[in-house]
Amino acid sequence: MIQAPRGTFDILPEDAARRARLEGEAAAILGAAGYRRIETPTFEATELFARGVGEATDIVRKEMYSFDDGAGRSMTLRPEGTAPVCRAYIEHGMHKLPQPVKLWYLSSFFRAEAPQRGRYRQFWQIGAEAIGSAAPETDAELIVLLAEVLQAAGVGDVELHLSSLGTPEARVEYREELKRYLRAHEDRLSPEVRDRIDANPLRAFDAKDRATREVMQSAPTLLERLEGEDAEHFARVRALLDAAGLRYELDPSLVRGLDYYTRTLYSFESPRLGAQSEVGGGGRYDRLIEQLEGPPTPASGWAAGVERMLLATELAAAPPEPVDVFVAVADAAGTGAAFALAQDARRAGLSAQLELAGRSLKGQLRHADRIGARYVAIVGEDSHASLRDMSSGEQREVPRDAVIAAIKEAHP
Ligand code: HAM
Repeated sequence: MIQAPRGTFDILPEDAARRARLEGEAAAILGAAGYRRIETPTFEATELFARGVGEATDIVRKEMYSFDDGAGRSMTLRPEGTAPVCRAYIEHGMHKLPQPVKLWYLSSFFRAEAPQRGRYRQFWQIGAEAIGSAAPETDAELIVLLAEVLQAAGVGDVELHLSSLGTPEARVEYREELKRYLRAHEDRLSPEVRDRIDANPLRAFDAKDRATREVMQSAPTLLERLEGEDAEHFARVRALLDAAGLRYELDPSLVRGLDYYTRTLYSFESPRLGAQSEVGGGGRYDRLIEQLEGPPTPASGWAAGVERMLLATELAAAPPEPVDVFVAVADAAGTGAAFALAQDARRAGLSAQLELAGRSLKGQLRHADRIGARYVAIVGEDSHASLRDMSSGEQREVPRDAVIAAIKEAHP
């Protein structure tokens, strides 16, 4: 038997209904704040992610599904959405639009990670990006919007972790200090962290092994070193969140697996999830557009994992669509008329299903009951149909061309 690839899953109709509900909630919340939907291609030039996400990240080093496009160019199934949205912003000259340009997406992404609960190789994200504003209000508003999406999704008791990375220039000095600290404790660091002291010392905060974690507990943090405009920006974000009544925990060890972040950085964790507890997160990325050869443009955004939200939620599926009428056939001579009646009923705005499995009349009535049909119209050779009200069991003869009107009269 051929099965779906490891780390991927099918979205079955029941799941699709829960997802549709989540999508509706997110669309309403983001739409009300002026975010408009964007969708970019499923694959992009590999270079976009190498440059955008960062050569030193796990995503680029080990998790990308890359392939040759047949003409010698390397393409990659998108591992994330921010770099593609920035590429689209530049490509379509969106800097000429009123700023910030506020965009959201609901797309699938691909990472060759070790699959486990909440971590897949193809997964979905709802993401929001505000491109063209450096204002701390943008960050605070995005954080509040993500909190609202999570709440509407029924994710409930989430913890917001908040930090700031400052600007890359401000970070240089700190990075040197951190590198010196890591070198001084090199013997206790995991080989992974040790190998990347130069390339990405900040990732040491994200290490899972005990000895490294212990070393990192006394490491100098960037938050303590924030100065000038970086410090002011972060103070303003915090003040806005305080005013909005959103609780957060300052987390100087917060690191995300993407290199483009500057200043504000955050994640929402759900205690209902296991090891993969982050439901969503994001931050400011003021240099990314420039790095992708666009005009210098500050930006900020987040993404939330759809599967993780659904794992942490009580959100029920939207109730199934009601079936106004099931069109049954009394005998073979009625099939043409039944086919036409089902179509007419749909054109008239009713939901109608047709017998498609060659069941006996009794079997058809049982099936109609199972799918929750309000009425069954039994169509045969003559010009009348039997119209059965499934809730009362009452059945009457109606001219075939009056069936739709009779149902509509009962359920206006
Ligand atoms: P990210 O933290 O890599 O950020 O992913 C965002 C969310 O996607 C995570 O919080 C998690 O819920 C979900 N996620 C990530 N990887 C997986 C996986 N393998 N399986 C299931 N869910 C997963 C980004 O992707 C950034 N683009 C977010 C952003 C937008 N930053 C600024 N703008």
